[in-house]
Amino acid sequence: MKLVKTIKEVREEVKQWKREGKTIGFVPTMGYLHDGHMSLVDKSVSQNDRTVVSVFVNPTQFGPGEDLESYPRDIEHDAKLCEEHGAALVFNPEPEEMYDEMFCTYVEMSGLTEELCAKTRPTHFRGVCTVVSKLFNIVTPDRAYFGEKDAQQLAVIRRMVKDLSMDIEIVGCPIVREEDGLAKSSRNTYLNEKERAAATVLSRSLRIGKRLVECGERSCGAVEAAIRAEVEREPLAKVDYVKIVDAETMKPVKKIDRPVLVAEAVYIGKTRLIDNFSFTEEKQ
Ligand code: PAJ
Repeated sequence: MKLVKTIKEVREEVKQWKREGKTIGFVPTMGYLHDGHMSLVDKSVSQNDRTVVSVFVNPTQFGPGEDLESYPRDIEHDAKLCEEHGAALVFNPEPEEMYDEMFCTYVEMSGLTEELCAKTRPTHFRGVCTVVSKLFNIVTPDRAYFGEKDAQQLAVIRRMVKDLSMDIEIVGCPIVREEDGLAKSSRNTYLNEKERAAATVLSRSLRIGKRLVECGERSCGAVEAAIRAEVEREPLAKVDYVKIVDAETMKPVKKIDRPVLVAEAVYIGKTRLIDNFSFTEEKQ
């Protein structure tokens, strides 16, 4: 496996593979890799001849006062994991390689990026769409892998690929969790012992919501209130949002009468964590 830092090196490698008729899978990440990321890598390795993983803490998707500087980094560990899991190439550029001082072109989306995380992080998805477009142009993969953990991001990327006619198959992958239910995240490392215990409130509250929906509750207000009430019982937790939206458009709905995403963002101390589940009524 190769670890490279320049766009040129990625292009040379990919060109050679394409000449050999190989298919290419791509897993974009911000690094500090865990089992959640590696489930995407494993899926890509199983579906493609070559897998590229990018490790890049993308400055344009962080807002002022967010955790760009403190975001955890460990490229040696990441590269070792990627090698063990069968990736062929890790791309770990410096910010200047991706954004030179003249950089001024962004991929902006309307609609899907107004609700949920966009309310607290208004420039986040513009940064995600811009960097993912750039990475797609650099790697030119056949397939790209994204986690359902970031469900809004997955919906945004699917829409962007359709809208901009990108010839890339987007593959969604299920959320990987710790044994106690907490969704794996690089940001879990910010939690101290007490906060780590409190963080189980995210998955626990969603399980309560899920049970209600599965028992036939169709009022979004009622389900959201039950989830919120469970989060509010945890003193270290503060709700950012609890929201049920249309699974494709990310627009809020009042009744669960179509495929929906039930999503929440919760501060545990200073750390903002997200979790979600999808629900689609089974046809009788
Ligand atoms: P990052 O947070 O590093 O996540 C990289 C990919 O791993 C995303 O598709 C994310 O949904 C997935 N992932 C993270 N935790 C997961 C878990 N517990 N289970 C399943 N998948 C999980 O998302 C980003 O980076 C960035 O926004 C990026 C797309 C790389 C653009 O900069």
